[in-house]
Amino acid sequence: MNRILVIFLGLTVLSFGCGPAETPEQPAEEVQAEETAEPSLYDRLGGAHPIASVVDDLIDRVAANDALNANPAVDEARKRVPTPGLKFHLTAMVCQAAGGPQQYTGRSMIEVHQNMNITEEEWEIFLVDVNTTLDKFQVPEQEQSELFAIVESTKGDIVMGL
Ligand code: HEM
Repeated sequence: MNRILVIFLGLTVLSFGCGPAETPEQPAEEVQAEETAEPSLYDRLGGAHPIASVVDDLIDRVAANDALNANPAVDEARKRVPTPGLKFHLTAMVCQAAGGPQQYTGRSMIEVHQNMNITEEEWEIFLVDVNTTLDKFQVPEQEQSELFAIVESTKGDIVMGL
């Protein structure tokens, strides 16, 4: 009787000692890290399709914004560069910055915008368009602030004289 109890207790201790989903190939610390890691911004936004939809709306909005097109260099570039190409590049850029698998292959932000003489005032107008688009798609507050941080990180390369 005692021997059976000892064997039972021994098996119980062994099985508790095994941990949640540890396999011989994957140490316990890695399993735990996977379980607690927060999903990337890319995943929280729903991946490439929702991000492309947001960019689609944003580019249509800024391309039609008279206050931005009042800048002759911006207006000239808008007429010269097809918006589907802009949408493609900006989608890839946002996906990559949000932690997605895409790679941005367009030109650097300095190279693209340096001759457009974009002012602080035009930058603010652009941010209002970003805000309108993110609200339209009901992007939650946390994700909006992370997206604004990505946009802000490019400001020094885009606004003239910073
Ligand atoms: C006031 C703000 C902005 C204005 C007026 C503006 C305007 C433009 C225009 C007219 C182009 C086409 C120029 C060309 O391809 O020769 C362009 C391209 C582009 N812009 Fe902006 N932009 C602004 C802010 C931003 C921001 C904040 C980002 C990124 C977060 C961005 C990302 C891009 C990208 C990825 C391209 C395409 C690059 C390529 O074709 O290689 N822009 N922008």
